[in-house]
Amino acid sequence: MTDLILALDPTTRTDAMRIASAAAPHIDAIKIGYPLILAEGLGIAKELKAFGLPLIADFKVADIPNTNQLIAQQVFEAGFSGIICHGFPGSDSVKACVNVAHDNGGECYVVAEMSHPGGAEFFQSGTAERIARVVIETGADGIIAPATRPERTRILREIIGTRKILSPGVGAQGGDPDAIAGLVDGIIVGRAIYESNDPGAAAARYASLRGKRT
Ligand code: XMP
Repeated sequence: MTDLILALDPTTRTDAMRIASAAAPHIDAIKIGYPLILAEGLGIAKELKAFGLPLIADFKVADIPNTNQLIAQQVFEAGFSGIICHGFPGSDSVKACVNVAHDNGGECYVVAEMSHPGGAEFFQSGTAERIARVVIETGADGIIAPATRPERTRILREIIGTRKILSPGVGAQGGDPDAIAGLVDGIIVGRAIYESNDPGAAAARYASLRGKRT
């Protein structure tokens, strides 16, 4: 079954805990990033761990290897089980995140192509494909690839084989879960769940839309 990953981007602890609590029975992991961490601090990660779900740090880390290593160490010490980094800084920078993730029993995902319209400006023309090959070279666990462009994600799947694809863009950005769920290992859904009047029901609905990985 394709995982359902909640992108938990509200900016107050109260909202984050309320929404996570309602969605938790229907989801497989929680992804948080700058919106919630900058508002409430890194300590929110330990509180969210109470839901017993894997926690992915979406910091899109994109620095030199030494700084990436320092950032990744903070992420895993805070209780995360996965980290998302960018691939464009190069394989040494990606490898720094992969090493820390694996030393901590965690996973590292690399952004290959972004889901918003502007994501087509720089990631195409071969860049996303090159980043996908960096995933193989560095031993990273998978890529982030767009639900909004299933045809691009299909091309990237051919490069990365059985490594995982986590796919944002379902819901608010217009991605169709039916078109992507069979191709990826996890769909990432944010606003369509956390802005809903009933986040539990919204999460249940997206959970029911997931197909089997083919
Ligand atoms: P929405 O509200 O659009 O939230 O469902 C999507 C979540 O995923 C993040 N996001 C991305 N992360 N590569 C990434 O690594 C992407 O292409 C991408 N597109 C969206 C976004 O920050 C939000 O948390």
